Amino acid sequence: MTASTSHNGLFISFEGIDGSGKSTQVTLLAEHLRSLGRDVVVTREPGGSEGAEEIRALVLQGNPDRWSAETEILLFTAARRDHLERLIRPALAAGSIVICDRFADSTRMYQGLSRGDLRATVDKLHDLMIGVEPDLTILIDMDPVEGLKRAKGRQGTEERFEDFGAELQAAMRKGFLALSQEFKDRFKVIDGGQNIEAVSTDIRNTVEQALSARQ
Ligand code: ADP
Ligand code: TYD
Repeated sequence: MTASTSHNGLFISFEGIDGSGKSTQVTLLAEHLRSLGRDVVVTREPGGSEGAEEIRALVLQGNPDRWSAETEILLFTAARRDHLERLIRPALAAGSIVICDRFADSTRMYQGLSRGDLRATVDKLHDLMIGVEPDLTILIDMDPVEGLKRAKGRQGTEERFEDFGAELQAAMRKGFLALSQEFKDRFKVIDGGQNIEAVSTDIRNTVEQALSARQ
């Protein structure tokens, strides 16, 4: 079931490897949609609600081996459940466009693939506790080495996953492209190797198509 099956809003997620330009493009898309008079809620995962932001600090900071793979799936799913209950569902029910920087596809990739094959566990927990998918998922696809360079350029403290390096980035890119085939109906793949304006134009066109298809 997609999130808006029973709502008026539109739920858009952004996915892609670290440094692919998601945050940049989320901001540009929100500005554009607001300039058209749309009501837009911008959010991100892990996080997006008070409790989920606390979990964010637990999962993104510290040693890469801080949590077992299974515990990590539980933490990301717990954060998502809180985010869904407190922010995403109410916003969609009010008719807003919700733009989320990462959602469940990131768990399918990072927790499902990076430390053995745990995809079935991720999916089971998703079905049990989350049960919704975005209406539209924008995958910003790009070269993993370039993405890592961009991400490292930011010099933040939330490096737990970025510390896994280029090999993980490459596996994630491949995995995201496979996921776009698995969920063909909701995924749109955008070439993230272009300049910021060109990427933004492609995304606007995709979202406008999705909006007009729903009217
Ligand atoms: P993400 O949220 O996917 O990790 P960001 O939007 O934070 O990516 O972008 C990572 C870095 O790359 C930022 O410094 C940003 O300004 C820069 N950047 C984003 N998009 C592009 C682009 N198309 N070309 C060059 N640099 C970009
Ligand atoms: P994010 O803040 O989007 O980082 P970036 O802007 O660098 O892409 O996400 C932080 C990290 O969290 C990112 O490396 C991917 C990871 N992550 C997971 O491992 N599982 C998840 O379910 C989510 C939402 C994120």
